[in-house]
Amino acid sequence: MREQLLALQEQALVDLAEAEGNALDAWRVKYLGKKGELSLALRSMSKLSAEERPVVGQVANAVRETLEAAFASKFAEWEAKQAAIQEEKETLDITLPGRTRSVGAEHPLQKIIRRIEDIFIGFGFTVEEGPEVEWDYYNFEALNLPKDHPARDMQDTFYLSEELLMRTHTSPVQARTLEKRRPEWPIRIIVPGRVYRRDDDDATHSHAFTQVEGLVVGKGVRMSDLKGILLTFAKELFGENQEIRLRPSFFPFTEPSAEMDIRCIYCGGDGCSTCKHTGWIEVLGCGMVHPRVLEMGGYDPEEVTGFAFGMGVERIAMLLYKIEDIRQFYQNDLRLLKQFASLPE
Ligand code: DAH
Repeated sequence: MREQLLALQEQALVDLAEAEGNALDAWRVKYLGKKGELSLALRSMSKLSAEERPVVGQVANAVRETLEAAFASKFAEWEAKQAAIQEEKETLDITLPGRTRSVGAEHPLQKIIRRIEDIFIGFGFTVEEGPEVEWDYYNFEALNLPKDHPARDMQDTFYLSEELLMRTHTSPVQARTLEKRRPEWPIRIIVPGRVYRRDDDDATHSHAFTQVEGLVVGKGVRMSDLKGILLTFAKELFGENQEIRLRPSFFPFTEPSAEMDIRCIYCGGDGCSTCKHTGWIEVLGCGMVHPRVLEMGGYDPEEVTGFAFGMGVERIAMLLYKIEDIRQFYQNDLRLLKQFASLPE
């Protein structure tokens, strides 16, 4: 019996030397568990004589202690090894270069919108917005463009239903504002926003682009007020010496209507490729608000008058930043965006 126990101890120690991880636990169950080999051996002690029992009992206890101690030290060793591996993994390498985070910046179009807003806020205007999905009524009808009006052809767009469309200009916000504010005046608003046309995209056309609309309504508002505001605006945006001219034009929602040109900002009027050798560059449409538009908006054209204008933001941004292809505003090419990120105001 004594030999049997010592042989068991020897085998157990050999096995323990090789055990790792889960095998350690299996070893403990196998040798020291309730139904383990040692317990099994001890059970057969009942067959021993009364003299032999205490002697073998001592040996059995010694074996148990030896095995438990061996297990404890082996287990501690294994735990220490695991901790070292973990620590190795977590070591910080402070020689790694930092991850640079690039800071976003305002899109060049947004910069121009904000400049335009700032200028008009300085004139006492407020900024309004309207929906990009618009009713036919506000986009056309309320602007004196009835269903069969030929001027609608110039602004073909994406229809969502017979009455609902992607707005072709920011002018519908004129009609919406009249409706909202009536019978109060004065009205002095500008309206920046995205508009849509069924155009094929090329260097100067985009099916989606940006406009800023302006509307002033009040008692005794005259065409000379329109011209004064636009001239001051042009000087603020392009420089103190900027000149403008108004050319007669047609829009169904204004009467009379005009187009505003600025003196070419590149050649100063001498003629160059940008101004197609005319010395002038067209930047916006404008006019006196048509009496029908005031009427439909709930105002009496005998009592109040108004002027309005609408400009293309991409066109102004292209002039100021010398961008030659309108598509560049929408391609999100970081090389272009970064170039204008740090632009001075
Ligand atoms: N809505 C016109 C367009 O998109 C631009 C315009 C012209 C707006 C004259 C106006 C205006 O307010 O008075 O072509």
